Amino acid sequence: MRGRTPRWRWIVAGGGALLAIAALGAALAWSAIFDSVLASQLALSPTSRSYQNWVAPSVPLYFEVYLFNWTNAEKFPLEKPNLVQLGPYRFREHRRHVNITWHPHNGSVSYRNFKSWVFDPTSNGTLQDNITTLNVIAASAVYRSRFWGFFQQKGLSMGLAMFGQHISVSKLARELLFEGYEDSLLELAKSLPPSTTGGAPPIDRFGWFYERNNSLDSDGFMEVTTGQVRGTLPGQIVRWNHDSRLPFYDGECSRLSGSVGEFLPRDLDEDSQLTMFIPELCRTVAMDYMESGEYADLMYHKYGISLTSFDNSSLSSDNACFCNGACAWGGVMNVSACRFGSPSFITLPHFLHGDPQLLDMVTGMQPDPEKHSFYFAVEPRLGIPLDVAARFQLNIYLEPNPNVALYEDVPRMLFPVFWVQQRVLIDHTATQELVMVRSILDWGATACAGAALAFAAIAAIATCFPKTKHKTDLTAEKLKEDELKLNPM
Ligand SMILES: *[C@@H]1O[C@H](CO)[C@@H](O)[C@H](O)[C@H]1NC(C)=O
Ligand SMILES: *[C@@H]1O[C@H](CO)[C@@H](O)[C@H](O)[C@H]1NC(C)=O
Ligand SMILES: *[C@@H]1O[C@H](CO)[C@@H](O)[C@H](O)[C@H]1NC(C)=O
Ligand SMILES: *[C@@H]1O[C@H](CO)[C@@H](O)[C@H](O)[C@H]1NC(C)=O
Ligand SMILES: *[C@@H]1O[C@H](CO)[C@@H](O)[C@H](O)[C@H]1NC(C)=O
Ligand SMILES: *[C@@H]1O[C@H](CO)[C@@H](O)[C@H](O)[C@H]1NC(C)=O
Ligand SMILES: *[C@@H]1O[C@H](CO)[C@@H](O)[C@H](O)[C@H]1NC(C)=O
Repeated sequence: MRGRTPRWRWIVAGGGALLAIAALGAALAWSAIFDSVLASQLALSPTSRSYQNWVAPSVPLYFEVYLFNWTNAEKFPLEKPNLVQLGPYRFREHRRHVNITWHPHNGSVSYRNFKSWVFDPTSNGTLQDNITTLNVIAASAVYRSRFWGFFQQKGLSMGLAMFGQHISVSKLARELLFEGYEDSLLELAKSLPPSTTGGAPPIDRFGWFYERNNSLDSDGFMEVTTGQVRGTLPGQIVRWNHDSRLPFYDGECSRLSGSVGEFLPRDLDEDSQLTMFIPELCRTVAMDYMESGEYADLMYHKYGISLTSFDNSSLSSDNACFCNGACAWGGVMNVSACRFGSPSFITLPHFLHGDPQLLDMVTGMQPDPEKHSFYFAVEPRLGIPLDVAARFQLNIYLEPNPNVALYEDVPRMLFPVFWVQQRVLIDHTATQELVMVRSILDWGATACAGAALAFAAIAAIATCFPKTKHKTDLTAEKLKEDELKLNPM
């Protein structure tokens, strides 16, 4: 037996070496391993981890509306409109994906958004507030008549006078928002051919969010990727209302792409852009890096709508095809085409990042990047949004029309009507989970490297230990011999 290494030592040494190599491999490829596990966790399927929260988000959502009260309407157009912001009128929003259909062979899933809103008493104001605003029904009628002949325009002019239409209306907040109000022009529009109303379905009431509560139509029919195909992200728009292009624009602008807001790309850096598909804007918006910071122990990069992402061709030629004609002002999005030809224009609240001329046409706007920007603050490595502020303002385009008495002297301007805000902050539990995931990601490679070292040490000891033992055996025998020599008798 003496001088031979026992078999189990070889097994330990060999096993240790193999494990060391495996751990070393894991340390080197940690990032890729982590990403593939994460991707499989995030991919959408009826059984995946991300599914429950995707179907019905558990974070509380609030929809806040600020209405502009027009305090000097009777002096228009002699005085610039003075607008006083009222609100927020706050609504608790519940949303759910319904009519979910999986398309496994093309890696996508289609659904509709069901949304409902309940008025929240923490609002600054009540739904009974009496608010004066632009008469949008008349403004739309005049806008739609802009290519009509002289006699038709004169006819509209008389019609507006006969129906007692004014440039402004005073309505209660609840009527302006969800409940809607009746109007004689709406009655009239029902009897007109669809071509004169831009194909808009006839409605019996008008309100900005009329018939949106408990409806499936607020965001349209969406088809997004599931992320089950290797190397793709979940939640990226594929088709909208059964169409893989946007029918409202030409060329590059008709391209449908980007995240619908739930899943974002990973490994974002300062040169990355976030592309988001925003149904309210009927388009994809590219958001640029703004700044970095820290929120609840997590680092974030903030991406937002900047001067260029929302602009006309003067600053960013890519956007020219969104203008649909004259690129009117900077920082303005003409959404007329996707609102049945109504004169709707979207900007950031208080014309933030907008053309200075817009601000000059009204009084009462106080743009403030802190309160009015549109951004996503994202944990950059994992692509998880920590703080999202989605905000935009709806404006109505006005221009003079010499044949319509009511609109003879109006200036060419955008009239601000309301702005909305949806703010979502990551909650405490999710933050803690993220911190943990982040530390697994950050320290996993180090842990594997440590394990590799430990296994390597075991292997080394297992191979070297027998030799040492052999040597000690020899030494002991030699000592005995020496002893014998020292004590010959
Ligand atoms: C809106 O403005 C009008 C006219 O100045 C005023 O009478 C009304 O009280 C204002 N509404 C609210 C809710 O402050
Ligand atoms: C509430 O609304 C009033 C105007 O109606 C405004 O002066 C005030 O600043 C608002 N408060 C908050 C907290 O927004
Ligand atoms: C969509 O879902 C709603 C509510 O869940 C249901 O009432 C409706 O019949 C569904 N429509 C289709 C086409 O499946
Ligand atoms: C995916 O498959 C469904 C049918 O299962 C089809 O209706 C849909 O158009 C497909 N989408 C794409 C982008 O090919
Ligand atoms: C929306 O509908 C729900 C349920 O029918 C109702 O409780 C709620 O008050 C409605 N919200 C608004 C803003 O009208
Ligand atoms: C709102 O105020 C206007 C005058 O500012 C008034 O004519 C109208 O009757 C009021 N509406 C309601 C519902 O009180
Ligand atoms: C806005 O878009 C519509 C339809 O796409 C177009 O007809 C209109 O001229 C545009 N308005 C302005 C002011 O550019």
